[in-house]
Amino acid sequence: MCFFALIFQLIVNMLILRKEFIMMVIGIETSCDETAAAVVSGGEVILSDVVWSQIATHHPYGGVVPELAARKHIEKIVPVFQEALTRADVGLDDLEAVAVTCGPGLVGALLVGLCFAKAIAYARGLPLIGVNHLEGHVAAVHLEPDPPPYPFVALLASGGHTNLYYVVGPTRLEHMGQTRDDAAGEAFDKVAKVLGLGYPGGHVIDELSKDGDPERIRFPRAFLDKTGFDFSFSGIKTAVARYVSAKQGDDSIDVADIAASFQEAVIDVLVKKAILAVETKRCEHLVVVGGVACNRRLRACIEKEAARVGISAYIPKPELCTDNGAMIATMGHRHLSEGKRSSMDLDAFSRDWRANT
Ligand code: KG4
Ligand code: ZN
Repeated sequence: MCFFALIFQLIVNMLILRKEFIMMVIGIETSCDETAAAVVSGGEVILSDVVWSQIATHHPYGGVVPELAARKHIEKIVPVFQEALTRADVGLDDLEAVAVTCGPGLVGALLVGLCFAKAIAYARGLPLIGVNHLEGHVAAVHLEPDPPPYPFVALLASGGHTNLYYVVGPTRLEHMGQTRDDAAGEAFDKVAKVLGLGYPGGHVIDELSKDGDPERIRFPRAFLDKTGFDFSFSGIKTAVARYVSAKQGDDSIDVADIAASFQEAVIDVLVKKAILAVETKRCEHLVVVGGVACNRRLRACIEKEAARVGISAYIPKPELCTDNGAMIATMGHRHLSEGKRSSMDLDAFSRDWRANT
């Protein structure tokens, strides 16, 4: 009798675990200037991934205007959510959990996604799970067909952050370093502004650099403490601005050379620090994520250096490097699988808590 009870319990546990495993999660992301929603099954199969970009709204101002971002999210959150369901060919009844970015990010923008996610979760009686945006970026690598095993080092380079993590498990990220001032993507955006290339600048500098000479100008590389993992990118932005104003009227200076030389300096630091982090942890796997990971030169340099030192590099496809809802859904799925849930008191936060430690 006892034996049968044990078998019965085992089967029930397996069914519960299986149910958790294949859970259908909607991920909602509104931390900055993208309104995004995605349906992900089992934490790894993307059924839909809808991203509404606000670039056109912020372009005339040369950067994200927080008040406008929040207003646009309010306008777009419902159609983006509905489109995510339609493309996934699922209805509200099929959803089993709602994952939502709760920070870091613009608080007004985050609150739109958060209120919407709470409303859906409350109305449908679904579990709600708050997701850290930065952890979401790192989890994006698990949406690719060949993800790395644990542990791995992750370099996250985006418009708001430049962090290095030692990732030891699905929800366990150990912080190794971060930027002390500007993020790498922020430097791209600010330099693009100085060069009159518009906003956001990363993609334009990437494109323009193809025709430039990366060795033409030696911009400074801030390695800071040689054995440490912190970054600093505000100096290089100032160096480019000084260079441009000093060379005004000099026709021999090509903007493509400035772009390529700036890009090379940023990439040099990112690649060297990332490889140092992997070597320090005696680890064999390096993941690179965040909007800057779309950069073709960075991708090529990471691949080349990884091959040289004998480690494997994992860089998700560009759509999974920039902000999206799928990364939030998969990170939410990880927390849910560990039995974590958020309450309806879940609040938005602007800064990464790790940045304050
Ligand atoms: O991850 P993301 O979409 O949003 C944040 O969480 O910040 O990253 C956006 C940043 C912007 O600064 C943008 O200029 C940069 O990523 N970026 C790039 C490229 N594509 C986007 N930077 C360099 N090269 C690119 N190809
Ligand atoms: Zn992001």
